[in-house]
Amino acid sequence: MTGAGLSAGERLFALAQADGGELAALPRELLRLREAAKQVRDPTAADGTLAVLLRLGRALPARRILEIGTGEGYTSLALALSCPQAEIVTVESDAERYAAACAHFTRFGVSERVNALFGDAAEVLNGLQGPFDLIFLDGPKAQYVHWLPRLKGLLRIGGVLAADDVLLYGWVDGSVPVPYKRRSIAARLGEYLAAVQADPQLETLVLRIGEGLALSRKRTEQR
Ligand SMILES: C[S@@+](CC[C@H](N)C(=O)[O-])C[C@H]1O[C@@H](n2cnc3c(N)ncnc32)[C@H](O)[C@@H]1O
Repeated sequence: MTGAGLSAGERLFALAQADGGELAALPRELLRLREAAKQVRDPTAADGTLAVLLRLGRALPARRILEIGTGEGYTSLALALSCPQAEIVTVESDAERYAAACAHFTRFGVSERVNALFGDAAEVLNGLQGPFDLIFLDGPKAQYVHWLPRLKGLLRIGGVLAADDVLLYGWVDGSVPVPYKRRSIAARLGEYLAAVQADPQLETLVLRIGEGLALSRKRTEQR
């Protein structure tokens, strides 16, 4: 594929999907920890999702990255190792996961570049200063649409907001029936997708990797 006729966002998204072997370049110990976490605890980002994030981080290139929902820190850690110039800000509300993430950042020698914040992102977001080049939204799914205006404000022009799990088991696009108790979360994610796709300041691509990854680039071009 050539870049002719493609928008800046389409070129960036195509680059982000190319397999650059990013995961293979990560320390074996981190890959082992990710695999172990996938078996027993709250899931970390899918391999394909992480590869896209690492590729984007390098292509932008990202100097400041924000993650909402640190978990045990594996994605922040991978981004910090893959983008050695980047400062990472990551927010987690669960005390045990926050402590585990901080221990991982120290163990892999990146704690000086990773600013791990403990608290509810709903509050922490208000005190953050942008701009960020890349934002990975991976916290409570029902909040994505409510936090979108603030996250957009924190994103630099040309930066990317990557929201994970936007298709959630096929519930959001209707390809799988939504269990009754999950209708609200599926509806909120549907609202998030509709909002980013309708926003003239954003160029959005939804990738069917993991449970769906929405990449929204803040346009440089006026429309
Ligand atoms: C899917 S996990 C994050 C995984 C991590 N991003 C990774 O790729 O390894 C989602 C995390 O969001 C956290 N979370 C949930 N609600 C939150 C909130 N209101 N503010 C901050 N973090 C929250 C959860 O405790 C959980 O650890």
